[in-house]
Amino acid sequence: MANVFNNYLLETVIKMRVFLLLLSLFSASWAVEQVAKKPRVVEMTLGVDMKPPEEWASLPTRNVVTSYMPMPLDHFDPHNTETFNMRFMYNEEFFGGDGSPVFILVGGEWDINAAWLRAGNMYELARENKGYQIYTEHRYYGQTRIFDEFTTENLRFLNIDQALADLAYFIVEIKKQSRFADSKVILYGGSYAANMVMWFKKRYPHLVVGTVASSGPILAKVDYTEYLEVVHEAFLLEGGEQCISHIRQGINDTLAALRTESGRRMVEQAYRLCAPFDYDNVLDLGYFAGLITWSFSGAVQRARPGTLLTECNNFQAGNYGSTPMEQIGGFIAAIQGLSSGGCWNVNFQALLNAYSGRTNSRAWYYQTCTEYGFFQTAPRSGTVFDGLTWLDVDFYTEVCLRNFDSRFNKDFVLAAADRVNLVFGGLGPEVNNTINIHGYIDPWRALGVYKEDISETSPTFTVNRASHCFDMQGWLRTDTIAMTAVQQRARRIVASWLSQ
Ligand SMILES: *[C@@H]1O[C@H](CO)[C@@H](O)[C@H](O)[C@H]1NC(C)=O
Ligand SMILES: *[C@@H]1O[C@H](CO)[C@@H](O)[C@H](O)[C@H]1NC(C)=O
Repeated sequence: MANVFNNYLLETVIKMRVFLLLLSLFSASWAVEQVAKKPRVVEMTLGVDMKPPEEWASLPTRNVVTSYMPMPLDHFDPHNTETFNMRFMYNEEFFGGDGSPVFILVGGEWDINAAWLRAGNMYELARENKGYQIYTEHRYYGQTRIFDEFTTENLRFLNIDQALADLAYFIVEIKKQSRFADSKVILYGGSYAANMVMWFKKRYPHLVVGTVASSGPILAKVDYTEYLEVVHEAFLLEGGEQCISHIRQGINDTLAALRTESGRRMVEQAYRLCAPFDYDNVLDLGYFAGLITWSFSGAVQRARPGTLLTECNNFQAGNYGSTPMEQIGGFIAAIQGLSSGGCWNVNFQALLNAYSGRTNSRAWYYQTCTEYGFFQTAPRSGTVFDGLTWLDVDFYTEVCLRNFDSRFNKDFVLAAADRVNLVFGGLGPEVNNTINIHGYIDPWRALGVYKEDISETSPTFTVNRASHCFDMQGWLRTDTIAMTAVQQRARRIVASWLSQ
């Protein structure tokens, strides 16, 4: 269905292009038309978009059905009887009938996508255990946006407590069907949704037999310097000292150039900026610093074995430019897919605009201001990013203040993170039957338990060379033996829970 629609759309677009081309051939403006620069705003790596890996593009698109469940808007106020429709998807292809297990992939701050019920580690679990597969969408994200406008007032039902209650309500509802009445339920979640599944097991232990938590940053932290420390470490581990010195030189030269007028012109050129920005404005400087760090972050968060080394080889070969500073600018353009003729609009207001509107990005930014912080600030420990000091907590909380509420200042965000840690136990969650998986080069592992088991029944597996949520895709060609082994190990443990 989707393909038919896309083809129709494509055809329409082509027809329109031909029409416009003809039109412009006959118009006088054709000759003087200039190639306009296409300004773009780079987004922070605060949130995750759980996209299926490219390798799955050729999978047959079958078996997955989309549905909706009416859900109480406010689980904690009996006076409020409003409901919304929560989207979910399911795939029954392996279901073994009455009492066979139910596997729920838990959605986080992204659109749910049917591909995750057609491949991946949870798909393998369902295949091996005759399981029914479900993918639930988080309130306020994807097509479960609830409100027409994301005003701060309308966002007040967006929090972890409501989201966990949605899952509880969902499980209780499906268990009213006789085929699921005796089914054991397993949750699988990655990134923020890994926190969700672990915290769900803690809060509603009677509803699920166990959970798999992939890359969960379970400690809420506002001044999150460790993120960029791991980004630095990842480039060091994968590319060696030489790679680090290329990056360090490029960023050092940039910082020096920012101090003079002629240097600034060189920065604008090397980084493909649309226009000079306000070099006296710490917020614009913060955004410029973010353009650099968020690009390195994205490369690390999505890394697979070999991909960071490729980038280091590009630096070594001078593929991104001739000076160290041009190399950084060229790397950013390549990593972010800046089109030729495209340019970066380094302007704090443009960044604010990117986090307004009815978008996943805005909803997640709201959650960082009111629950987690997770602000990826410049480290102070000798990394290549230390000099980018404009990237501090004040920079990130300025977005909270301006885009949501003038009360959402630094103290507010610090208190919000304290509350989450108080309620869920931070790095000591004391939860049973949760498999806790981390990748060593994943910057988010710094806010998870990655060095020891959580409890006797909740083992931790941290895998070298692996990054964010590496286990969820199931086996990929680029996976190391250690990565595959942990995926299998998790499946064996889940199978043992199901046989108890
Ligand atoms: C970068 O700058 C710092 C101080 O600002 C200095 O200690 C370091 O040696 C410089 N590194 C390079 C590669 O220029
Ligand atoms: C976890 O399991 C152990 C052993 O069965 C038990 O003693 C402990 O109370 C459990 N903890 C929680 C939080 O359920």
